[in-house]
Amino acid sequence: MTSTVARSYDVGASHEVAERGRLVVTLGEGAAAVTVGVFRFGGRLYAYENVCAHQGGPACQGRIVSRVRERLDDQQRSLGTVFDESVMHIVCPWHGFEYDVTTGRHPGRPDYALRAVTVDEQGGRIRVSV
Ligand code: FES
Repeated sequence: MTSTVARSYDVGASHEVAERGRLVVTLGEGAAAVTVGVFRFGGRLYAYENVCAHQGGPACQGRIVSRVRERLDDQQRSLGTVFDESVMHIVCPWHGFEYDVTTGRHPGRPDYALRAVTVDEQGGRIRVSV
């Protein structure tokens, strides 16, 4: 049985991750290196390993977009699409899988999820544990 001990890293100043912004950092060295994306949404920080659940692409480096919602009339006919600013997604650049930044899950296939990483903010600094 192998056990791993989480290591904590100072990855930058709080102001480096603005609202709806991101920071991608590689922590550790060699085969043990882990790349992590840190995001801020609604004032909170979220962090995920930069490995897409689809085929391993760099999901955390993809576009940051608001969720797209289709508006329907009372007979369920489409009135077109709108951006829902209350939900932020990151879009994997390889094949377009989207992830809700607050859960790390694909909105249509919640079994596809990014691996969450512990992130804390204290004294104006951001720390990530992997
Ligand atoms: S590897 Fe991310 S969408 Fe395919």
